[in-house]
Amino acid sequence: MDIPIRMLFNALPPELPGPRLTLRRLRSSDAETVFAVAEPNRDWLQPWLPWADEPKLATTQAYLESTERNFEAGTQAHYGIWEAGEYLGNVGVQGVVEHRGEIGYWLAKRATGAGRMTEAVTALQTALFEVGLRRIEILCAVGNLPSNAVPKRLGYTLEGVLRDRIELYGTFHDANLWSRLSADP
Ligand SMILES: CC(C)(COP(=O)(O)OP(=O)(O)OC[C@H]1O[C@@H](n2cnc3c(N)ncnc32)[C@H](O)[C@@H]1OP(=O)(O)O)[C@@H](O)C(=O)NCCC(=O)NCCS
Repeated sequence: MDIPIRMLFNALPPELPGPRLTLRRLRSSDAETVFAVAEPNRDWLQPWLPWADEPKLATTQAYLESTERNFEAGTQAHYGIWEAGEYLGNVGVQGVVEHRGEIGYWLAKRATGAGRMTEAVTALQTALFEVGLRRIEILCAVGNLPSNAVPKRLGYTLEGVLRDRIELYGTFHDANLWSRLSADP
């Protein structure tokens, strides 16, 4: 009998240690830590993320509480990215259904340009494939070049352009759909 993916998904480790970065699953108790980095990066994040226009501690808290509930439901897992004890941003999977899910991410501006997100996505995708996902998707607004560069660098396949797929503050953006299968080389 097949084991439901939800049970396998709940086997995701709370911590994914790597050579440089440690990913730790976010909890509502991390709200102040996340807010303290997201807030000063508002201008950096806002062009591409729907929640970054007016970061508030209460909103961050509510978001992390909902991701904890969604983790229990088997649909989302969001990890904070730490380096030498310092929190730098998030990488997570959402929309997990059946055998697939979508990875999303952001970094504090000063943490970019050094391969950290490429490393973080690699760690998360490995864990996701280990618990049984077969297909990971990454959707990036066509104009978000640094975001598109991450799946491209990691050998994801560009499957096409989804028209008006991403809405940001009332403006609709076409999105590149990147994918990687557990069976991909
Ligand atoms: C998307 C985002 C996380 C990408 O950050 P990034 O720093 O470009 O990505 P990485 O951390 O993987 O670093 C890659 C860069 O480091 C360089 N690099 C240095 N050492 C590296 C290594 N060992 N491995 C890979 N890249 C390395 C790469 O050349 C690249 O630099 P370049 O763009 O000048 O060529 C960041 O731009 C961001 O947070 N943007 C705002 C939020 C956002 O858009 N989120 C995505 C929504 S879909």
